[in-house]
Amino acid sequence: MIDDAITALREGKMILLYDFDDREGETDFAIRSDAVTPKDILRMRKDGGGLICTAIDPVAAERLGLPFASDALKNTQIAEQEGEIPYDRKNHSSFSLWVNHKNTFTGITDRDRALTITAVAEQVKKSLNGGGAHFSEHFRTPGHCALLRAADDLLDQRHGQTELSVALARMAGVTPSITICEMLDDESGYALPKTRAKAYAKKHDLVFVEGREVLDRWESAKKQK
Ligand code: 5RP
Ligand code: ZN
Ligand code: CA
Repeated sequence: MIDDAITALREGKMILLYDFDDREGETDFAIRSDAVTPKDILRMRKDGGGLICTAIDPVAAERLGLPFASDALKNTQIAEQEGEIPYDRKNHSSFSLWVNHKNTFTGITDRDRALTITAVAEQVKKSLNGGGAHFSEHFRTPGHCALLRAADDLLDQRHGQTELSVALARMAGVTPSITICEMLDDESGYALPKTRAKAYAKKHDLVFVEGREVLDRWESAKKQK
């Protein structure tokens, strides 16, 4: 399944990415950011219903000047403290800034969000290809697209969909920015159970991959180095 996930990502297809039973226990839609279309945003908000976020490689985030929100807000009383997240006491959240591309109108429509997200991916790519990235020229904050900054050591440090998705992008050799959105359950008000997320994947012919498989591949790649 991990190879299928890597291939699907490479091909710009949506996949479903579950984290871990002992973490959030959530399944996120995940797609490479440079392939996001307005139809993908529609699908994520209708069939997923969670928060649509764009995960960014830590090296690119640093070069683009995208901080962790918890660091940027640390002088406010409300800033999130490390150890405060109930499903992960060792880390803070991966939230960075919220942005809109300067060519958007309201920023929230499917078209506007797809525009912002693909433009973010372009800046990520430029920043990793040796420069030419001008983030502040193209975006304003606050906006309607949540950016997530992956931990510096990716899966050695944190096991969220932020790191899982960026690690998968690196494995696939694509621009390391992935747009994700949780699948929520309309009936219970909780996260969509894994069994139902798997059934959705089967029905819609999508790859379903678990964090465990991504982590195993990550560890075995490290051993081969
Ligand atoms: C943003 C989130 C989601 O859980 C998302 O999957 C990214 O977070 P994490 O990397 O912690 O899993 O909180 O809606
Ligand atoms: Zn520019
Ligand atoms: Ca998550």
